[in-house]
Parts: sequence; C-alpha cells; structure tokens
Amino acid sequence: MKRGALIVFEGLDGCGKSTQLRRAAARLRTRGIEAVETREPTDGTWGRKIRAMAQSGEAESPETELAWFFADRREHMREVVTPALESGRVVLSDRSYISTVAYQGARGLDAAQILADSEAEFERPDLVLLFEIAAKEGLARVRARGGAAEPVFENLPFLERVEEIFASLEVVGLERIDASHSEGEIATAVLRLVEGCLSERL
Ligand code: TYD
Repeated sequence: MKRGALIVFEGLDGCGKSTQLRRAAARLRTRGIEAVETREPTDGTWGRKIRAMAQSGEAESPETELAWFFADRREHMREVVTPALESGRVVLSDRSYISTVAYQGARGLDAAQILADSEAEFERPDLVLLFEIAAKEGLARVRARGGAAEPVFENLPFLERVEEIFASLEVVGLERIDASHSEGEIATAVLRLVEGCLSERL
C-alpha cells in the first residue's frame, strides 16, 4: 500500500490553525477521505506533563523542555503517525517539530540544530501550513477566547521571538497563509493546498 500523507498545521498561539484543521478534516471526509486528526503536545503522559508545566507558570530549563517535547513526539510517531501513514491514511497534525524549532529556538536553543535532529528522526511532513499572524494579534485572540492561560509560552516578548523564527523558516513543503483573513477565505486556501498535496500523493 502507498504511504499516506502528513499535513501539519503550524503557527503562533491564536493563529486559528486548530479551527482550520477541523474544517479541513470535515471537508476531506465529505469526499470519502478519512483524515486522522491529531495534535502535539499529545494527550499522553509526556503531553500532559508539558501542559501542566506550561500552565503552572514554572518553566523547566530549555533543555528539559526540549527533551520532553522530543519524548512526546517519539511516542506520537510510534503509536499514531507512522502506523496511519503506513496504512495509507492522511494525517492532519496540530503542531509538529516545526513548533519545537520555533518555540524552543526562542528559548535560546539552536533552532537549526533542532530542525536537523528532527528531520533525521521523525516523519517529515508532506505539507506544512504555516498560519502567519503577528504575536500581538495572536495573543490578543488567545486572551479574548479565555481558557487556561499558559504563562510559560504565552507572553509577548517570547512570542515575538517565536514569530521571528517562523518568519525566517525554510523547510521543504512549507506554505505560508495570511491568518488575518476571514475564516472562510483561509479555509478555501487551505483546501486548495491540501488537495494539491494529496493529488500528488494518493
Ligand atoms: P498548543 O497547540 O497551544 O496546545 P493547547 O491548545 O492544548 O494549549 O500547544 C501548547 C504550547 O506548547 C504552545 O504555546 C506551543 C508550545 N509548544 C512548544 O513550545 N514546543 C513544541 O514542540 C510544541 C509542539 C508546542
């Protein structure tokens, strides 16, 4: 059986990627393509540990944080992503190692090295949809929707560094989407890119 496709949705907190992922999955289903929806950090042991840390306001060292994200992703690849790709399915992932490059890079670690290590170890995405929004705007949206604050990651100076790394990122399969447009306009752009990717692969 042909390998499926891995499409990752990336961007700053508040960029709208999770909404767009759900919409894309629903559209694919109406066309008879069963998309696997997943996310990182995961809901597994490591992912829960990461969320608890982010919400506690007490950051671990950048190195520890990096190790936790890698451990979470390793488990996610082994248990969810690789098996789905091997059975020919389309995987839509809310975040991936691209987030580690940007966020842990913004914590002072070597972004280029994180990218190289990740590409060597993990499934590479066939398409990276990067939803671009200014850090200030993203944070305002996160605050407007309420929900649990994550003081470790959701503060402006830090997110501005993340924004800079996202802006300078060069990876194969990367498509930038202006996340300031309307939800409907963005959904149309996403669908066109997803269909383009799948028509080459499936
Ligand atoms: P997020 O997608 O916002 O999850 P949720 O909606 O459940 O809160 O991810 C949580 C935070 O983790 C977010 O601020 C980005 C950060 N993060 C990293 O710092 N490195 C990573 O590798 C990943 C996947 C996320």
